[in-house]
Amino acid sequence: MRILVIGSGGREHALAWKLGQVAESVFVAPGNGGTEGGNVHNVPIAVDDLDGLVDFCKRERIDLVVPGPELPLTLGVTDRMTAAGIPCFGPDAYCAQMEGSKSFAKEVMAAAGVPTAACAVFTDAEAAREHIRKSKVPPVIKADGLAAGKGVVVARTPEEALEAVDAMLKDKTFGAAGARILLEERLDGEEVSLLCLCDGERAAPLPSAQDHKAAWDNDEGPNTGGMGAYSPAPVLPDEKLEELADVAVRPVLAELARRGHPFRGVLYAGLMMTPDGPKVLEYNVRFGDPECQPLLMRLEGDLAALMQDCVAGRLNPAALSWSDKTALGVVLAAKGYPGSYPKGLPIDGLEPADALPGVKVFHSGTRKQDGKTVSAGGRVLCVTALGDDLADAQAKAYAAIDKITMPESFYRHDIGAKGLRRLAGKN
Ligand code: AMP
Ligand code: GLY
Repeated sequence: MRILVIGSGGREHALAWKLGQVAESVFVAPGNGGTEGGNVHNVPIAVDDLDGLVDFCKRERIDLVVPGPELPLTLGVTDRMTAAGIPCFGPDAYCAQMEGSKSFAKEVMAAAGVPTAACAVFTDAEAAREHIRKSKVPPVIKADGLAAGKGVVVARTPEEALEAVDAMLKDKTFGAAGARILLEERLDGEEVSLLCLCDGERAAPLPSAQDHKAAWDNDEGPNTGGMGAYSPAPVLPDEKLEELADVAVRPVLAELARRGHPFRGVLYAGLMMTPDGPKVLEYNVRFGDPECQPLLMRLEGDLAALMQDCVAGRLNPAALSWSDKTALGVVLAAKGYPGSYPKGLPIDGLEPADALPGVKVFHSGTRKQDGKTVSAGGRVLCVTALGDDLADAQAKAYAAIDKITMPESFYRHDIGAKGLRRLAGKN
């Protein structure tokens, strides 16, 4: 089998690594410094160059396309591939609006009866300001469209809420993505992610994974794409997965299928466990990065076959099999991330780290330069380890990251700490 993975991050390295175990060749467009070697090859095509991607698949007789990030999905890569007769593991552009438009997702949730925060949609700043003045608790402000994870402001004061409204609707900080905003009721509780493989009709939950969004230790600092993750997360035990899929994922699949757009691919529900039960904060239409890295370390069996079954509408949820071990990944980032950061920094110690038992170093923002690996992005590596339990996985991942040096880098020292506290009965 010949597979094309679209994207250039740690998630795509993990996908290429796992798929490379069963495929004859895996191509990654455009890939990074880690997605080159053996039967894995980079191809210089941008993730939004749909013509280039379709041409490549035809020319190279690709059997399966796996888009990593949301952008190509919202642009319709699956529609284009399907029209060309090429199986593509991901939702069509209509379904990808579940991530691409928060107001669309809200409308589908309402139709499907999925519990979520109350919300109102605005394009007019004055009307939004009036809504805030009338609210008892300041609402959460969300840009409707894709804003690289930055389009949500959880305001602590009405003033902060008003500022966020002006930034989005008046100053157009997110351009067209913020021309329409949602003002949403603020929910309290612990957040969990539920990812399901979907074949249009059936949804098979993946084990739980917990991300770490804040840049610095103790959840301080600015929000990032994710600084580390582990699986399973004690906050969401396996025996609760089916129940949550019934609440947050299966009603959406039924609603989208009823509209003539069966959802195929990964549907990822971000949930808040509130005192009134679980409520959906958002959907993603793809694997999370970095959640994908520890999850795929635990997946046993043939990922390509599972993906093909999803595309063909014949997923057998019993075919998913997982290691009982715990996997944990720590992201090494360039200083300054998620703001501006230097690039081209030399990275040393990758081989000794990767050689440790149970460890896999996934590359995110790296590239090869004269045979050496240098940084090329904000999130640079995700050093991931499989251990007997959470403490063991954590110790192995940090022992591995200790072997790696990169000037002007940083990482969080507390990935998994929340899970360990919960296991110890402390929260
Ligand atoms: P989203 O992209 O919608 O998941 O929002 C990003 C982050 O903002 C979430 O992971 C939550 O931490 C927070 N958030 C979003 N919506 C709400 C809400 N209604 N109440 C409280 N926090 C929220
Ligand atoms: N790590 C969260 C995301 O991929 O959206």
